[in-house]
Amino acid sequence: MNTGDAKTPKLGVREATKIYHTASGDLLALDRCTLHVAANEIVSVVGPSGCGKTTLLWSMSGLHGLSDGEILLDGKPVTGPHPDIGLVFQEANLLPWRNLDANINFPFEIKGEKPDRAWIAHLLDRVGLDGFGGKFPRELSGGMQQRAAIVRALSLKPSVLLMDEPFGALDSFTRDEMNRLVEEIWLDAPTTIVFITHSIEEAIFLSDRVIVLSPRPGRVAKEYPVPFPRPRSMEIMATREVFDLTNAIKMDIVGGRAGTKARRPAETAA
Ligand SMILES: Nc1ncnc2c1ncn2[C@@H]1O[C@H](COP(=O)(O)OP(=O)(O)O)[C@@H](O)[C@H]1O
Ligand SMILES: [Mg+2]
Repeated sequence: MNTGDAKTPKLGVREATKIYHTASGDLLALDRCTLHVAANEIVSVVGPSGCGKTTLLWSMSGLHGLSDGEILLDGKPVTGPHPDIGLVFQEANLLPWRNLDANINFPFEIKGEKPDRAWIAHLLDRVGLDGFGGKFPRELSGGMQQRAAIVRALSLKPSVLLMDEPFGALDSFTRDEMNRLVEEIWLDAPTTIVFITHSIEEAIFLSDRVIVLSPRPGRVAKEYPVPFPRPRSMEIMATREVFDLTNAIKMDIVGGRAGTKARRPAETAA
């Protein structure tokens, strides 16, 4: 596994443009979007709803082709699903008729590969699911299902993990717990993570860098380094610096959204 060097970013998005051809016409979702993620960096992507975050993530995974531009992993173009890139979505997408162990084994069965049982046991233990292998998805809470989805993704030992609003459907306490868990897992075994969220607090808690996309068509509007030391405590999250950073990002998103609407004369007068 090539973890990249200082000069080659782990993951590169170069001038990514995506046009969806729909029945009602072409829709430009991404417009020359360029960003780089260093090896073992955690980068969050935030932006107004519909700005192209999911489109960007699917393109990074190789599951969706771009209309123009390219995705580079360790400097090499990604042209389809890649074994080094793992994905976690908002829905855990566990197969309801399989128990947890069988769900985690599923990708290995498809690939015709043998799972690393010791690594999976370690991961299950790490996320607090030790002993739950025989349970079916319906027997697990939403948070537990998402933990299982994370184990399933990490069991394949990806060097890049792409997460699309993975905790968006969870209550806020469970979400905080999951955020701490992701940080712990990362501190244990660093990997490159791109994390999409609509929670600015979550983005700040988890990331080394927060990237703000413009309203559709998505382009990088701004980026903010997040300099707080890890592990990040709840105390850090309550500081003035975090408050100010949260507000700055919020204003970018709200300001950007407002900027897409034609201004009414009443707003421009005075
Ligand atoms: N498969 C698709 N076909 C057509 N339009 C799509 C498709 N997927 C997304 N879109 C459109 O592209 C834009 C960006 O969508 P998406 O990437 O899901 O945004 P986000 O994740 O930021 O909410 C939206 O206008 C959405 O309706
Ligand atoms: Mg989305």
